[in-house]
Amino acid sequence: MKILRTKKEVSTFVNIIKKTNKSLGYVPTMGALHQGHGSLIEQSVSENNYTLVSIFVNPTQFDNATDLNKYPRTLDNDVTLIERISGDIIIFAPKANELYDSKIVSKNYYFDGLEYEMEGKHRAGHFDGVGTILDIFFSLIQPNKAYFGEKDFQQLQIVKKLVAKYNLDVTIIGCPIFREASGLAMSSRNERLSKNSRKEAAFIYKTLLKAKEKFGTKSAIKVEEWVTDQFAKNKHFNLEYVSIANVDTLKPVKRKSKNKKYRIFIAAFIDNIRLIDNIALN
Ligand code: PAF
Repeated sequence: MKILRTKKEVSTFVNIIKKTNKSLGYVPTMGALHQGHGSLIEQSVSENNYTLVSIFVNPTQFDNATDLNKYPRTLDNDVTLIERISGDIIIFAPKANELYDSKIVSKNYYFDGLEYEMEGKHRAGHFDGVGTILDIFFSLIQPNKAYFGEKDFQQLQIVKKLVAKYNLDVTIIGCPIFREASGLAMSSRNERLSKNSRKEAAFIYKTLLKAKEKFGTKSAIKVEEWVTDQFAKNKHFNLEYVSIANVDTLKPVKRKSKNKKYRIFIAAFIDNIRLIDNIALN
């Protein structure tokens, strides 16, 4: 298994691939890999000649030092998971000062307002951090395709916007959410949940499914109120937001229209751990 640590090593590898006209799939991650990441990596392996997985906990996308410090770092396990998929996958696991030159700071981006909704309201500067690091990775790695999970649906839409606005030569592939048997969306943060909280956390997906049913006959606002009420009654959770939004603009739905696509999004804390999830409504 090849683990690259420097930009120079990545450039050398990329230059060799570009000369052979072979395709390169890229899966950006922050490590603490689970089956959800595994499914993105498998898809990349099946669609490309080569796959590169980056493992890097990007400091500029965290608005909270505790969250950054507590983010799980499990490189040995990550390598084992990747190796099980294929021994030919290339891993890039750099240190922050290898990627960011003198200062570890974000650039400022305007993603046509997508960044002001939901996560953007609650995690200051988060999408500037994501945009900055992906800009660095895309220009270094020059992948043909890059794979992102729909669990971070807002991130997926923002990455598509980044690519369109800056004319980046990469195809962004959105992949379905992978769930634990209980329905809980797979997330690196699930590792920090106690056994009991992990069980309780299935409540998020159950509530999303019931909300979807209600959305058939009720307005978006009524469904959001219903979800808020369910979380208020659940002593394990603090709901940060629920939003039923248009998938293209990510703006909350005022009036339903038959031609538009909607999703419901939730962010909630359990045991002080922040979980997010979403599902399509139509
Ligand atoms: O989704 C993530 O894990 C991160 O936001 C990403 C895309 C790897 C950028 O740091």
